[in-house]
Amino acid sequence: MASIFEPSLPTPDLSHLTRADYEHVYEPAEDTFLLLDALEKDAQELRQLKPQVCLEIGSGSGCVSSFLGALLPSSSALYLCTDINQHACRCTKATGSQNKVTLEPIIASLASPLQHRLANQIDILVFNPPYVPTTSDEADAAQVTSGISGAWAGGKSGMELTNILLSSVPKLLSPGGRFYLVGVVQNGVEEIRQRMRQAHGLDSEIVLERRAGRERLWVVKFFKAAAPS
Ligand SMILES: C[S@@+](CC[C@H](N)C(=O)[O-])C[C@H]1O[C@@H](n2cnc3c(N)ncnc32)[C@H](O)[C@@H]1O
Repeated sequence: MASIFEPSLPTPDLSHLTRADYEHVYEPAEDTFLLLDALEKDAQELRQLKPQVCLEIGSGSGCVSSFLGALLPSSSALYLCTDINQHACRCTKATGSQNKVTLEPIIASLASPLQHRLANQIDILVFNPPYVPTTSDEADAAQVTSGISGAWAGGKSGMELTNILLSSVPKLLSPGGRFYLVGVVQNGVEEIRQRMRQAHGLDSEIVLERRAGRERLWVVKFFKAAAPS
């Protein structure tokens, strides 16, 4: 009898990346893999969306966007990525090529150069942000130096950078678009969900939660609330 379960997709091939790359670029870890699992869990829903434009913010190694490309094999979607770290953008491009997915990395902060031209056009938006609570000074310095510390230094409650993006998500998402955000318990996921609902009319659902060492990670999905009938 045919199985109703699809076999799980392999993690993208990262064998071209070296120790030297990971001195500058975030090496995929439990948070990355939880995000892959969340996207895979929603594979059917994401395929049905027939996405045209995907955007990963903070693409790092390029592992997540390469996985997304493999998850949507027959789609002709554009896979845009941003990262403030130039080494991350180089690795993202290389990881796309290694996995036969055309990724278009842009050295930029958040969605800044795309904000207006891609207003209401992003079908799948993904962000595994620097979510570790640090001092604001540490987070600011990490943003200025655009190096490896930008992968984790999140400032107050680990939310300083993420909060900037959250307010622009409603403008970026297409009507049926989905936004996947990774975080840890210290970020306060219920407060984030409530704020997004009240201030921006976005509904949400926790897709996955997992303990990884000392971290309790979650992935939440936001989407525009259905208009009342
Ligand atoms: C936790 S890492 C995630 C990397 C990769 N997406 C993954 O899941 O393995 C966070 C990434 O965000 C990037 N980043 C930090 N600040 C950023 C900003 N203002 N705009 C875009 N990317 C940023 C970092 O350079 C880093 O690559």
